[in-house]
Amino acid sequence: VNQIVDESVPPEVVAGCPFEAWSGPAKIARGPQVFSGRVNSRGFDLSDVSELARIGAAVAEAEPRGPVADAGAEVVEAALAAAQPWDAPVAERAEVLRRASDFYEREWGALFAVLIAEAGKTLPDAVGELREAVDFLRYYAGEAEAAPAPSQARGVFACISPWNFPLAIFTGQVAAALACGNGVLAKPAEQTPRIAAAAVALLHEAGVPAEVLQLVPGEGAVVGAAITSDARVSGVAFTGSTATAKAIARAMAGGMAPGTPLIAETGGLNAMIVDSTALPQQAVRDVVASAFQSAGQRCSALRCLYVQEDVAAGFTLMLKGAMDELSVGDPGLLETDVGPVIDAQAASEIRAYVEAARAEGRLVKQLDAPEGCFVGPALISVNGIADLGGREVFGPVLHVATFKAGQIGQVVRDINATGYGLTFGLHTRIDTRVQEVSDAVAAGNVYVNRNQIGAIVGSQPFGGEGLSGTGPKAGGPHYLQRFRLGPVVAPAA
Ligand code: SER
Repeated sequence: VNQIVDESVPPEVVAGCPFEAWSGPAKIARGPQVFSGRVNSRGFDLSDVSELARIGAAVAEAEPRGPVADAGAEVVEAALAAAQPWDAPVAERAEVLRRASDFYEREWGALFAVLIAEAGKTLPDAVGELREAVDFLRYYAGEAEAAPAPSQARGVFACISPWNFPLAIFTGQVAAALACGNGVLAKPAEQTPRIAAAAVALLHEAGVPAEVLQLVPGEGAVVGAAITSDARVSGVAFTGSTATAKAIARAMAGGMAPGTPLIAETGGLNAMIVDSTALPQQAVRDVVASAFQSAGQRCSALRCLYVQEDVAAGFTLMLKGAMDELSVGDPGLLETDVGPVIDAQAASEIRAYVEAARAEGRLVKQLDAPEGCFVGPALISVNGIADLGGREVFGPVLHVATFKAGQIGQVVRDINATGYGLTFGLHTRIDTRVQEVSDAVAAGNVYVNRNQIGAIVGSQPFGGEGLSGTGPKAGGPHYLQRFRLGPVVAPAA
């Protein structure tokens, strides 16, 4: 099931983690969801406009931190030579991670400012990032403490994180490795080194030793290549594209000890099915959030919507109307729903994709967007998910197809045939259909009658199968097992 590892890689190197062994039972989340609040950060009440306004004002005053220098080959070599596991009792490690989570909350204004300035996050997205980062720190601290003895750190982990969750995923990988007593070489995406530097500063301030956590920002071809092919590294946690994950698996096979784990979370070609029994107003709201929140730059985002033919005309009309309500622009403004995409190159590639659809007469709608790195949310008509040609367009672009009553089984087979298996959404009022479709669809996270983004640490373990990742799921009870040596045991219910 793990398709990250291609034939040319000796199987013993990375095949230690068949996905099924790790996927856990929590595949289905039904909406609306109520979260228990076991690990979550104190949070900000986004329904309280005065709270958001207060955040906005503070962010406008805050100074993003200065540039972060790239680590070249020499700096990386020095970091590899200095790297140490964290030789402290688990209770102390957990205490330091919890202290760091408090420092993250203390510094929310500065962190939001960097997230907005560097990654183009909207205010609600920045709030979500900080919450998730704090949750990862607290959740993995608790999971490490609860681990059955004996277990032991693997050594030093390379943690390679993406620009789309440059605080949350960066922190999640690092926290998991540290909680288990590993040292970390943390390589953030080229686009987002400043928020990573801010996070590392807070982790050091909380008590993580400097030689245990080292930031190695820089290019994948230099820094990433060095830390994924060096025998001093005992494991790699990676989130990013499927192509890069495969390249990492090959690099690891060339330089690392057999059995070195690769924990990869990669792309998705995520679908949602809306049948004729769905509540259209609710489904439209969830489609808009799933496809366009974070400017579609989530691996969980909805890419291909299937609407039952009987209701498709009315549904599409309502969806177009809802798109018209979106405000595209300055991510620092309270009213903005859709901010910029990550950089000019991404913007131009996504625009070219939409223009090609327009030329073919398949563009149903696109919103206007300001100049610069903005792309207007777009709706493109397709016959089915196969028309996407296996390409994950990482932006605010939604494809829409229709299906006839009785064809749901074929639609699910088409979705599975992409080879990806990350998130899936279903809107229906037919209870038996929920179970049938959830069982048949190959996806790590299935969401019913709600949106399909924003998995919550500790209650919705997140991760996919096939081309979407190796498992184990982040934010779930199996995740830490890959970061340590020792017996694999089922977590307590
Ligand atoms: N964990 C995020 C989500 O669920 C994606 O990375 O949307």
